[in-house]
Amino acid sequence: MCGIFAYNGTKNSIPLLVDGLRTLEYRGYDSAGVVGINDTGEIFVQKAVGKVSNLATKVDGSLGNSKVYTTGIAHTRWATHGTVTELNTHPHSSSKERFYVVHNGIIENYKELKKELEKKYTFYSDTDTEVIVKLIEEHYEEDLKKTLEKVTKFLTGAYSVAVIDRENPGTILGIKLWSPLVVGASEDGVFISSDVNALSKVASNYVMLEDDEMVIIQDKKYQIYTAGNLIERESQEMDIEYGIDDMGIFSSHTEKEIHDIPTVLENVFSGRVNFGEKTIYNETLEELAEHEIERIEIISSGSSYYAGMIGSYFFKSLAGISVQVTSGSEFLADELLPDTKTLYVFLSQSGETADTRESLKIVKEKWCLTFGIVNVVGSTISRLADMWLYSHAGVEVGVASTKNVIAQIAVLLMMAVSLGQKRNLQHSKARTLIEELEWLGDNISEVLLNAPKIREIAKKYAKHKSMFVLGRNMFFPVAGEASLKCKELSYIHTEAYSMGELKHGPLALVQPDFPCIVFNPAGKFYTKTVSNIQEIRAREGTVLGYVTKWEELGDLYDDIIEIPNTSEILSIFTSLTASYLFALYIAEELERDVDKPKNLAKSVTVE
Ligand code: AGP
Ligand code: GLU
Repeated sequence: MCGIFAYNGTKNSIPLLVDGLRTLEYRGYDSAGVVGINDTGEIFVQKAVGKVSNLATKVDGSLGNSKVYTTGIAHTRWATHGTVTELNTHPHSSSKERFYVVHNGIIENYKELKKELEKKYTFYSDTDTEVIVKLIEEHYEEDLKKTLEKVTKFLTGAYSVAVIDRENPGTILGIKLWSPLVVGASEDGVFISSDVNALSKVASNYVMLEDDEMVIIQDKKYQIYTAGNLIERESQEMDIEYGIDDMGIFSSHTEKEIHDIPTVLENVFSGRVNFGEKTIYNETLEELAEHEIERIEIISSGSSYYAGMIGSYFFKSLAGISVQVTSGSEFLADELLPDTKTLYVFLSQSGETADTRESLKIVKEKWCLTFGIVNVVGSTISRLADMWLYSHAGVEVGVASTKNVIAQIAVLLMMAVSLGQKRNLQHSKARTLIEELEWLGDNISEVLLNAPKIREIAKKYAKHKSMFVLGRNMFFPVAGEASLKCKELSYIHTEAYSMGELKHGPLALVQPDFPCIVFNPAGKFYTKTVSNIQEIRAREGTVLGYVTKWEELGDLYDDIIEIPNTSEILSIFTSLTASYLFALYIAEELERDVDKPKNLAKSVTVE
């Protein structure tokens, strides 16, 4: 994954680079590093394991005020090859420390390249990246552009790379294949970044590089080349305002983002749902309804996968359309049987997830209809898809997705109602649903008010090593998402299972210290789920239930988290929100870093 940031201009690059990395940190926070060169070729290098703040502290302590490094490259790493150590931290250098490289991606054939290069060069790191810089050294012939063109011919895999040369201190070269790279320009200099957001405060214009393009930055100017030839590319005015809200009264971004959910829902519905007339109107959805759609395939990863699974029930029950949900990585592993009557929906918060993005490219090559639902405005998936809607969740900082999942589910619900209205969905059913949606934000607020009670319960459950999370029908993927959130935030092993499947094997694991968390709101499957809970209790299992407020509880559950009395569909939103608080509070009890869980990154841009 990783984030790349580079600068050449009149200012001191180092503080600018460290700031750029802060915005790119969602792409990985295993380690971070920076290298700057001044006009005479003197360098400043600093690296630190862990977050960008660790690098910043080291830089503050060592940079001083006397030297200005006007050219530099920087990197925040999500390790793919080689452990999380300072030695494996980018930038990586050639043997005489002439060339420095930062890299986002994976060099798939690095082993064979390394074997050959090792005959002549000593490698100091375990990264795949080091072969790039050693190849540059090996093939350098007085022209870095030509050298880089030659070197990329040896590489298989995905990369965006920035290179500097101590002998040509005012120059940066960047090149990309599959991994993103954006060039930003300002009066003071030129930047390279892995995303446009990191440029929003420093650049007045930007250009997105396409695959196989190279950028050469020199003397505050840049030129773009493709296949060795200079090309003209108009830049776009920077119209992106990117700012991370401060956490206010909350102790983490994740907590704040869960509490943002009522506002997010207002944004999702705004201009799309007319609560007065009880109708859904959106131009993109109207246009979509013109297409002959017999089937939908939803492709997404992680939380977005579970959102897709939940949405599949909406399309089936409200629009009568059959749906398949496939995770991006499995979609890529399988054979595509293209179908022009299938709508391929790509769900992604970041709009950059490699598994989802590459699946989209494959579908597009077959001329099938593609539809993106993304949160990050202008992201690759929104640019590639034939049609798209934004989930309007706002900037999500917490690596574990919360408010965006709720927004995605709301968008899928609107989409299903909209398609249903053109099919067999009863007018009255649609009206009742829309009427209810108007109160969804309030229902969620009611759940949030229950936070202290949820915290108390979470404290009790934080001691367990393993838990089942169970649900039936629509609540099976809800259980999947709730379980993913517990894993990510608390590192407790939780396993989502379909409630009805428990008795077919996993029940063997149930015992008092292996609790079952059950989603059992009022609805079609309430009674059946109650019977399944009895089966757990008969085996002395501990049961925590997400239950609707009216329920006569008896002694069915050991603990309950109450959700408002709404329709079954709406209780997806409320119970999921409650489960986010539950996961968060377990993690807090265990003193986890909830905004940046270990081993993860917000945007997974490698396959
Ligand atoms: C969510 O909590 C996770 N961090 C992760 O599973 C994420 O949902 C997944 O990587 C997909 O990301 P996307 O929505 O940006 O495509
Ligand atoms: N493969 C490189 C490394 O492990 C870059 C990682 C990435 O972009 O995810 O250092």
